[in-house]
Amino acid sequence: MNKIVYIVSLLFVGILASEGGNPCCYLPCQNRGVCMSTGPETYECDCTRTGFYGENCTTPELMTWIKIKLKPSPNTVHYILTHFKGFWNILNNIPFLRDAIMRYVLTSRSHLIDSPPTYNSDYSYKSWEAYSNLSYYTRTLPPIPEDCPTPMGVAGKKTLPDVKLVVEKFLLRKKFIPDPQGTSLMFAFFAQHFTHQFFKSDMKRGPAFTRSLAHGVDLSHIYGDNLERQYKLRLFEDGKLKYQVVDGEVYPPTVKDVQVDMHYPPHIPEEHRFAVGHEAFGLVPGLMMYATIWLREHNRVCDVLKQEHPEWDDERLFQTTRLILIGETIKIVIEDYVQHLSGYHFKLKFDPELLFNQHFQYQNRISAEFNTLYHWHPLMPDAFHIQGQVYSYKQFVFNNSLLMEHGINNLVESFTNQIAGRVAGGQNLPPAVMMVAMKSIENSRQMRFQSLNEYRKRFMMRPYTSFQEMTGETEMAAELEELYGDIDAMEMYPGLMVEKPRPNAIFGETMVEMGAPYSLKGLMGNPICSPEYWKPSTFGGKVGFEIVNTASLQTLVCRNVKGPCPVASFHVPDVKDTGSATINSSTSQSRQSDVNPTVILKERTSEL
Ligand code: HEM
Ligand SMILES: *[C@@H]1O[C@H](CO)[C@@H](O)[C@H](O)[C@H]1NC(C)=O
Ligand SMILES: *[C@@H]1O[C@H](CO)[C@@H](O)[C@H](O)[C@H]1NC(C)=O
Ligand SMILES: *[C@@H]1O[C@H](CO)[C@@H](O)[C@H](O)[C@H]1NC(C)=O
Ligand SMILES: *[C@@H]1O[C@H](CO)[C@@H](O)[C@H](O)[C@H]1NC(C)=O
Repeated sequence: MNKIVYIVSLLFVGILASEGGNPCCYLPCQNRGVCMSTGPETYECDCTRTGFYGENCTTPELMTWIKIKLKPSPNTVHYILTHFKGFWNILNNIPFLRDAIMRYVLTSRSHLIDSPPTYNSDYSYKSWEAYSNLSYYTRTLPPIPEDCPTPMGVAGKKTLPDVKLVVEKFLLRKKFIPDPQGTSLMFAFFAQHFTHQFFKSDMKRGPAFTRSLAHGVDLSHIYGDNLERQYKLRLFEDGKLKYQVVDGEVYPPTVKDVQVDMHYPPHIPEEHRFAVGHEAFGLVPGLMMYATIWLREHNRVCDVLKQEHPEWDDERLFQTTRLILIGETIKIVIEDYVQHLSGYHFKLKFDPELLFNQHFQYQNRISAEFNTLYHWHPLMPDAFHIQGQVYSYKQFVFNNSLLMEHGINNLVESFTNQIAGRVAGGQNLPPAVMMVAMKSIENSRQMRFQSLNEYRKRFMMRPYTSFQEMTGETEMAAELEELYGDIDAMEMYPGLMVEKPRPNAIFGETMVEMGAPYSLKGLMGNPICSPEYWKPSTFGGKVGFEIVNTASLQTLVCRNVKGPCPVASFHVPDVKDTGSATINSSTSQSRQSDVNPTVILKERTSEL
């Protein structure tokens, strides 16, 4: 029956009177159908295995129709997961139910990512070059063909609005809006530190290219992204990395000591030019703080392993420690970091065994869209509060002196206690990083990203029908409508930044529904999560495996700071007291209304 449907579906050939452009400019194929031109004015949609058929892959097969009817909307699922605390507390303690739900979370999210990867920014059709050239970020949606009537295909105006205007009007901060989820700067710097191992654009080649060829959690930001750099950073003794001791505390070595390239402006004194895996981590002390913590952790784990294996040489101690740190990182990212971001009362679990009986590919390719959506610069505050002192951007940036001045423990304490900015909802980008947002829009245009609505459809969301629906207000919506002309021409990145946040949340729907699949696929697609790797011997035995399976942000910090250990958290403690006065000012009336279950119900039924 299915076969017949596919064959019938291939007989349809769409004809479009395009303005001389490619017929695929209309983006006619729905539900992940593939558009292929069949002459200057005709196209075919390949609906194979989409569960749909017809000229544009719009008619559901019976099973698909039933699934659509039964499937709750992302907002409904989110509502359930972030409410009913009592219910979830019970469920979290019933192992087989917790496992089943976690398995569902992992598979339902990662199935949205094509694996093996498909397109890149220079290939909008499948090709061996696009598959095999690891220097490119992959693309989840192919680029808009060059010869289209408008930059978004056929929707919208012939030219997109001025980048500076978009950033100034809709993205730039007027007054700091604290994140209502209580995210701390400890989280923000973790995000920046963790993601820069795989978001490493090769700007010499352009935004479509990356210098991180492993495309995932390889800890190249600790060990360097090539062997030459790694060797310069290694001590070649007991598996350890080079370090220096200042006032009885361990810090990364200096550039002068190890002779690796780091990006520092000329005025930075030699003794403050620390050298670590990632060239750019001198940028902010928040990054260098994490780099220092992980350096200490590496050398600490080497000591533990050497106790267990006095017979092992430097190389084996180094390599095994690296795998342990990869495991610790993934554990912390799922159980502390994603747990915090999600706001779920359901307790997430890092357990690779959940996927052992599932169809799951242990591979990953970072996509350009993932990099773009991760530009969470609104997290950054107006200034940095450390031990009662206030540092401006000018004083903070490239200033490693802060690290030694305050010590890692005090930095952790201060960053844990300072609230980060809300990302969605618009107008919360610090002026200091305005250029970064402009760059990210320019790059998206150069890479010919499809519209926000095309990405919403790709990630199983209903496209927005108006600018008001997207922003949840009227003022910015009206101005955006004037600039873009058509909601189907709204760009992805500015769209994500101005999108209506979910009630009391840091992000809107699109950021979460797009970001989570990329994130979970990247974490669980790591080789250490595969059946042949995920066993004690890979990590040097029971002791090493235990380090991975008990890792948390708090223990990572406690095992690596001198003196009493500060609270380390992605959530600002007591945010209800410190933040309430400002939190309600950021939550407008129209945004409050969608907490209302009847609104969610309506939304859900309108989808069916
Ligand atoms: C004071 C803090 C920060 C400063 C000064 C800063 C600055 C920058 C700069 C200059 C770039 C390069 C832009 C370009 O040339 O295209 C960049 C890229 C980026 N930033 Fe930040 N940033 C900060 C914090 C953050 C945070 C907290 C995140 C959180 C996730 C973040 C995520 C990113 C990402 C994903 C990229 C793209 C990296 C790449 O493609 O290589 N940044 N940032
Ligand atoms: C398929 O899509 C094209 C372009 O959007 C449209 O003109 C055509 O009417 C659609 N065909 C059907 C059967 O919906
Ligand atoms: C990848 O593609 C770029 C751009 O076409 C090219 O310069 C580079 O040599 C390719 N890399 C490999 C390994 O083929
Ligand atoms: C760097 O931080 C130190 C405190 O550790 C401060 O005294 C100094 O003024 C800062 N440097 C700059 C250039 O602002
Ligand atoms: C926040 O809400 C409280 C209680 O409703 C109110 O007293 C306070 O003025 C509000 N603050 C702002 C900044 O709106």
